[in-house]
Amino acid sequence: MKTRVFSGVQPSGQLHIGNYLGALKNWAEIQSLYQSIFCIVDLHAVTVYQDPAVLSAKIRETAALFIAAGIDPEQSSIIVQSSVPAHAELAWLLTCVTPVGWLNRMTQFKAKAEKQETVGDGLLQYPVLMTADILLYQAGVVPVGEDQSQHLELARDIAQRFNSIYGDLFIMPATHLPAVGARIMGLDDPAQKMSKSAPGSGHAIALLDDPKTIQKKIARATTDSLPAVNAESMGPGIANLFTIGQACEDSITRESVDGMRYGDFKKRIAEAVIARLEPIQRRYLEVTSDPAYVPAILTQGRDRVLPIAEDTVCKAKRAMGLYV
Ligand code: TYM
Repeated sequence: MKTRVFSGVQPSGQLHIGNYLGALKNWAEIQSLYQSIFCIVDLHAVTVYQDPAVLSAKIRETAALFIAAGIDPEQSSIIVQSSVPAHAELAWLLTCVTPVGWLNRMTQFKAKAEKQETVGDGLLQYPVLMTADILLYQAGVVPVGEDQSQHLELARDIAQRFNSIYGDLFIMPATHLPAVGARIMGLDDPAQKMSKSAPGSGHAIALLDDPKTIQKKIARATTDSLPAVNAESMGPGIANLFTIGQACEDSITRESVDGMRYGDFKKRIAEAVIARLEPIQRRYLEVTSDPAYVPAILTQGRDRVLPIAEDTVCKAKRAMGLYV
């Protein structure tokens, strides 16, 4: 049997070039080597409040973007997390073997909790649900951006703990980072990770931004006060733009940008981003032109994965002595 791949994206905010270069692009590249499952993790999104009408539209939009970015629904299963109840069921079983101290240490939890007036329990349990997503399908490979590395380590710890208490059931998932683009920073502040939730129109390039908007955002991106690119020692803003350009277009190399004046360099990077996103945006329009298409793909994905998910939950329940 082919190794399984699992990964997910939250349908909150607007998908940006960091999500694409850190995750979706890599998924499209490796999908044919594995049996792949790509998930819209709506149960994760509701760990902070989401407007219900907006969320339900975002779930479809995210699925359409997966396909537009090159995920082939015939080859890979595209699913919505909440349509497979076993995600939540396994999450509960894993919650019961996870020490709270492990969860309190998660840097993303600490960062998100700081921004909330009241911290929902779901926010603390977030990485346990993520572990359930992965273990439910016995995924051996999880392609993600660097910000998920700590969650993946925790997933392995939880799997190991379950196995040592109840007997070997889960396989250990490996983290798979892209060679370039594992951590794209904000255009307005190269010290902060580019994020869906960060406010400010100059922060992120959305996958559906038009060419003019992309040019403007890149032209305004924060750099340093040097006049031209020094390939040997790039400041954080220039280095981030270079990474974005390099990940979008192979011909953008250190040599090719060395000595370029910042204005010209930014134009070159914008060109590369626009060229990379153009076919994705075109495909997005095609995919969404028939409103029945995406829901049909999501139903097909769910029907394909349900037996795998139910089988794993059954085994986990049996191992724990629960009523099956
Ligand atoms: P999410 O929705 O925040 O991000 C989706 C994917 O995009 C990557 N990413 C980035 N990569 C590079 N640079 C950035 N600035 C950047 N921002 C985001 C993320 O690493 C991720 O791969 N917890 C996950 C969703 C999830 C999941 C899972 C992932 C739920 N269950 C099981 C893998 C396996 C999340 O919030 O991703």
